[in-house]
Amino acid sequence: MQDLERRFFEAFGKASSFRAAAPGRVNLIGEHTDYNDGYVLPVAIQFSVTVLASPRTDGRVNLVSADFDSRVSFSLDEPLIRDASAGWSDYPKGVMSEFLQAGLRPCGMDAVYRGDVPIASGLSSSAAVETAFAVLIRRMNGFAIGDTDLARLCQAAENRFVGMNCGIMDQFISALGQANAALFLDCRSLGYEIVPFPSDLYDVVILNTRKKRELTGSEYNERRSQCEEGVRLLSGALPGIRALRDVSTAEFERHAPGLPETVRRRCRHVVEEDQRVLDFVTALRSRDEASIGRLLLESHASLRDLYEVSCPELDAMVDIAMSVPGTVGARMTGAGFGGCAVAVVRRGTGKALAEAVLEEYPKRTGLCPELYETRPSEGARAEKLE
Ligand code: GLA
Repeated sequence: MQDLERRFFEAFGKASSFRAAAPGRVNLIGEHTDYNDGYVLPVAIQFSVTVLASPRTDGRVNLVSADFDSRVSFSLDEPLIRDASAGWSDYPKGVMSEFLQAGLRPCGMDAVYRGDVPIASGLSSSAAVETAFAVLIRRMNGFAIGDTDLARLCQAAENRFVGMNCGIMDQFISALGQANAALFLDCRSLGYEIVPFPSDLYDVVILNTRKKRELTGSEYNERRSQCEEGVRLLSGALPGIRALRDVSTAEFERHAPGLPETVRRRCRHVVEEDQRVLDFVTALRSRDEASIGRLLLESHASLRDLYEVSCPELDAMVDIAMSVPGTVGARMTGAGFGGCAVAVVRRGTGKALAEAVLEEYPKRTGLCPELYETRPSEGARAEKLE
C-alpha cells in the first residue's frame, strides 16, 4: 500500500484522497449458468485490486497502472473510446462510460491502481478492476446507486465497452462478497442468500494450472448462442420459457431428444448444473461431505464432457487433487479453457494437496502450478482518506 502511495505521489505530486479496493472471486459451483438466468455460488477471495485517487475539476482522467507501468489520459467531455494499445485502461474507462450513460456524470480524477488477482486465470481480475473503480466513483461523487445496480453497471461496461459478453456473477460477487461466506445468487432476480462456509471443517484451495486461457471470447460467445438456440427450440414444446433456468431436469429429459446433438449437450449441462447448485447449497448447509464432493466432481465432468470448456491441464489438476485423501471434491472454475480449478479439502490438508500437485502436475503437463488457500473475503469498499 505504501508503495502505491509512493507511486501516486510520483505520478501526481500530491497525496491521494480516496482509496477503493475490490476482490477477485472463485466460483464454488454453478458454471456457465449466470447468462442462462440460473444460479451460482461464488466467494470473493483475498486477492484484490486497489485504487488510490483524487478528484479533478477539469473533467480529465489520468490513470496509471502500477502493474503495467503505463499511463493513459482522456477527458470525460470527449467520446470515450477503447484503446487497444492500453487494454488495461478499457475497464475503468468502460465503467466511466456506463456512469455517463446512466446519466451520472463523474468528476475527473487522477488515479493509480494495482492488483494481485492473477490475470487471465479465471479469478476475475477484470471484474475486480471494474468494481474497484465503480465504488470509487460512487464514493467520490456521492452517487446514490445501490450495490446491485453497481454490479449491473460494471457488467454493462464489460459487455458494451470491453466487448466481452459475460454474465453478472463476477461483478456481483466482487461488489457484494461477504467474509467467511459464499453468495448463493439467483442471476435472474439478483436476489441472494449468504451461505456461511463451514471453515471449521473445510478449506478452499485454488489450483492455478498456469495454462493461459485461450479462445475464451469466441468459445464463450458460441456457448451462449447454443444455449439461446436451445431455448428457442425448447420453447416450441414449453412455451412459457425465457431461459434454460425455466426448464426443469424432468422437462429437459422429456424434450431433449428433439434437440440437435451439440445444443442438447450444452443445454443438459446448464439445466443439471442449476440443480447441482441448489443441491450443493443444501449439502454445504448440512455439512453433507459426500454430496459436496460428488456435486463438485459431477460439475467438472459435465463441463468437460457436455459443455466442453475444460482442457487437459484442468482435468489433470482435478485428477491429482482427487488422489489426495483430504480432498472432498474439485472442479474447474470460471469460464474454462485454462485458468484455475477449485478444491474443497478437509481442514488442514491443504499442505498434502500442495505437495501432490507440485510433484505430479509438472510431470503431467510441463507447467509449474500455483496454489492459493482462500479466505472467503469482503466485497468492494471505498473510503475518503482525509
Ligand atoms: C466468466 C464470466 C461469468 C461466467 C463464467 C462461467 O467468468 O465472466 O459471467 O459466465 O465465466 O460461469
